[in-house]
This record gives sequence, structure tokens and C-alpha cells, in this order.
Amino acid sequence: MKHIETIAVIGAGTMGHGIAETFAIHGHDVRVYDPDPAMREKALSAIRSELGLLVETGQVAAADVEGILGRISYAGELETAVAAADFVIEAIPEDITLKRALFANLDQFCAPGTILASNTSSLDLQEMIVDLPQARQADCMICHWYNPAHLVPLVELSDFGGTAAAQLERVEALLQSCGKKTIRVLRNLPGLIANRIQQGIAREVFALIEAGAASPEDIDNALKYGPAFRYATTGQLEIADFGGIDIWCAVGDNLLPQISAAQEANDLLRRKIAENKLGLKTGEGFFHYGEGRSVEVRATSTSD
Ligand SMILES: NC(=O)c1ccc[n+]([C@@H]2O[C@H](COP(=O)([O-])OP(=O)(O)OC[C@H]3O[C@@H](n4cnc5c(N)ncnc54)[C@H](O)[C@@H]3O)[C@@H](O)[C@H]2O)c1
Repeated sequence: MKHIETIAVIGAGTMGHGIAETFAIHGHDVRVYDPDPAMREKALSAIRSELGLLVETGQVAAADVEGILGRISYAGELETAVAAADFVIEAIPEDITLKRALFANLDQFCAPGTILASNTSSLDLQEMIVDLPQARQADCMICHWYNPAHLVPLVELSDFGGTAAAQLERVEALLQSCGKKTIRVLRNLPGLIANRIQQGIAREVFALIEAGAASPEDIDNALKYGPAFRYATTGQLEIADFGGIDIWCAVGDNLLPQISAAQEANDLLRRKIAENKLGLKTGEGFFHYGEGRSVEVRATSTSD
């Protein structure tokens, strides 16, 4: 197998900077393209500050920081960023028109055999690459990281459509060498696997808040100290096996008719949005965030 050596990350926002940082930490040269100079600047300072936290927690040696930063270069031209790349991953806004245009440009600028990956959370791979020649489509895939990309191990890879098996194996090898846990998603399902599981949990959590079932603190504690405590080490299917499938069947029959089956986001979220209570970024969501709490949460939290 030919190892991936040269990497380009397209889009230097929330996900792009963390993806570039991960590759650089693990010894890879990365070129980052973003058309917005302010975002390129912001990415550099975010990476510097996150590396500082990794040094504080003993995950990166202080002596390695400048070397890691030096492996990341920033480009204002797409063509420059992707020239000679073995692997290109895009993390531009979740907009099908933008992504389709980007893939068309990548097809122009990248050598045959370059792997073209999308970090999309919800868009259809085939729709993004429909205009590309068939041979190029075999080099395209979804490669979905979790936020913060430099901390969360999971990366979901599409193993449906026409992606060549050898290209998928090269990406798996690259990500595993960076300490990532990859899974293969076998069916073309919006949201892939992990986001669907998470939305199932979130739907019931928001419904419980709406019903006044417990305080926000206690609902989050019920999750953190109960199911999530087990989920940290044990998957749902293992939990079903350990508890007994007969028990899970009986409890499911009793409980599932009682819990939320909502087909859209809870109205509670729309009311919060109308009040500009968007969470950490506006200082209030379900909880209040003063400056101290905000810094602490940013350092430890994960989202989508
Ligand atoms: N934010 C998350 O938690 C998260 C998690 C997993 C996956 N994703 C997915 O990752 C992708 C990026 O999300 P994000 O949150 O990092 O977005 P973001 O808005 O933080 O960053 C997007 C970046 O892309 C740049 N950009 C805009 N148009 C561009 C173009 N044509 N070419 C190159 N760069 C361009 C912007 O300047 C910006 O810096 C989306 O597909 C999103 O669904 C996001």
C-alpha cells in the first residue's frame, strides 16, 4: 500500500484547523487553504493555543510545538494548496452548491489518484461529486471527524458508492497512525452513524426538559453519571448483551411508546434561538457562561 504523505485541508474553520493540527502533531506536512485571510490567522492562533493545552496536559512535548506549527503552511490559492497532495479533505461550509463547486475545482487541480474526502455532516456524497468523471469518483469519500477534531478519536468513513477499496485502506492507515478510531459506514444514510445515535439521545433529553422532568443540571448528570459513564467504555450492543436481550426487549416494549418520537427539532430550541440563548457563544443556553466557565468548557468540551 502506498502511504499518504502530503495532505491538504480545505477550509480553516472549526473543523479544518483541528484536522490540520492532528495531522501535524503526527508528523505530516499539511497545507491549509482558506480564501479568508482572517480565518487563516484565526486557525494559526487556535492551533497555537490548543497545542498549549496539550502541552499542559502532557499530551505534546513543549519542545515539539514549533516543529508541529512548522509542518502547517497556509495558502490563499486552492491550486497551490492541493498541488502534489496525496489526500485532500474539505471542511468548508455545509452547502451543497459550495461543495460541488469545490470538488469540480479539485478535479481540475489534483493529480489522478489523489484522494478527495469530505467532512460533511449531512450531505450526500454522490450529489457532491456527480459532475466528476467516473475514475475520479472512485477516489472520493466521506471522512467525517468529530469536534474538536484534535481530541475526539472517532472518524467515520464512507464504504458505500464507488470508492475504491485500496483508497479507503490508505485513509484508514493514515488516520489510525494519527491515533484515530475509524469505522466504516456501509449504507448511505444521512448523518452516518454517530450523529444519528446522538440525535436519538438529544431528542429525549430536550423532551425531558420541556416536560419539566428535572433540572438541566440533573438531566445532564443523569446522562453523565449513568448511560454516558458506561458508554465511555461499552457500546450499546455490548450493554444489551450484558443486561440481557430479553430484558431490553421487555423494557423497550414498555418504554418506547412513552418517550419522544418527535420528527423535528424541539420547539424549545427555536425559543432559545429567538432569545439569542445559543449557548457558549452568546454566554447563555441551558446554562450561564461567565468568562471563567467559558474558558474551562472550551478546553474540555466536545460537540457535533
Ligand atoms: N462544526 C462541527 O462541529 C462539525 C463537526 C463535524 C463535521 N462538520 C462539517 O465540517 C464542515 C465544516 O464545518 P465547520 O464547522 O468547520 O465550518 P466553519 O464555518 O467553522 O469553517 C468553514 C471554513 O471554510 C471557509 N470557506 C468558505 N468557503 C470556502 C471555499 N469555497 N473554499 C475553501 N474554504 C471556504 C470559511 O472561510 C471557513 O473558514 C461542514 O461540512 C460541517 O458540516 C462540522
